Amino acid sequence: MNNFSKIAISDAHSKLILAGEHAVVYGKPAIAIPFPLKVTSIVEKSNGSIIFESDIYTGFISNMPVKLKGISNCIKETLKHLNKPEENLKIKIISSIPIGRGLGSSAAISISIVRSLFSFFKKRLTENELFSLVQIAENYAHGNSSGLDIMAILSKYPILFEKERGILPIKSKSSLYIVVADTGKTSDTRVAVGNVRKRYNLNPKNMQKSLDKIEEITIEIKKTLLNGNIKLLGKLLTDNHNELINIGVSDKDLNDLVKTALSSNALGAKLTGGGLGGCMIALANSPQHARLISNELIESGASQSWYFSTNEDIVMEVN
Ligand code: MEV
Repeated sequence: MNNFSKIAISDAHSKLILAGEHAVVYGKPAIAIPFPLKVTSIVEKSNGSIIFESDIYTGFISNMPVKLKGISNCIKETLKHLNKPEENLKIKIISSIPIGRGLGSSAAISISIVRSLFSFFKKRLTENELFSLVQIAENYAHGNSSGLDIMAILSKYPILFEKERGILPIKSKSSLYIVVADTGKTSDTRVAVGNVRKRYNLNPKNMQKSLDKIEEITIEIKKTLLNGNIKLLGKLLTDNHNELINIGVSDKDLNDLVKTALSSNALGAKLTGGGLGGCMIALANSPQHARLISNELIESGASQSWYFSTNEDIVMEVN
């Protein structure tokens, strides 16, 4: 019997950060929810050097572009861990998660690849193995990753995450109607995390004040999820956005989309993920309201928008 499968297929979903991005790198809590956009990784036998096939790059993994270096390192380390040579494989990626937009595409791609490589070689994968292999790609993508994206992508539920304490699943009392909009600009999380670090070193007192405020907001947001106070949740999301402006990770496009959402009566809005480009989210009070906000965001320049309810697995796309 072969010690590998004919073909192995694995998925991972995307994530949205509701609160606490960046502050989480400094040990503060963050809250993330699953976002049902998916990536699928398909591993098959081939001949010669490993071929990577995706929308953004197709070719040998040894020639992968710099922005995919974390992923190629993750593939190499996974094969080393499995005691398999770096050859005779084709890894195909099919993804509906836009890359570099703060939606966790790098972690989702790496998670689906590690899962499909283990499944291809018929090996059992523990959560610890998965976390440490994917963290290789994440540390490359984020500079020094908190681990939040990986844990959010691995979870089926909203989570509260702290670097030192791990995750706590949160059972939200009400369904949330969430709108996501893409500025159309790539957000480089590594640069954003590095900028926050530089700013912190220059002015630790001011930055600590913002990080403490974000922590307070995140704890309040957790309470609103548990007690279903959606109106207050909206206000807190916008408060979190204002603190993200203070720590220097928002930009004009994100702020304009947040303003558009608020003027369409969103309950609240903020950037999500690393910032400096990428995506923002808004909280609506019904699916119809979510659709309206999504349309307004497209009208005012978003390159893509989605809306969904947290109690369903379906995402509506507007573009
Ligand atoms: C990126 O999705 C989240 C950041 O907080 C970085 C990290 O937690 O590693 C900006």
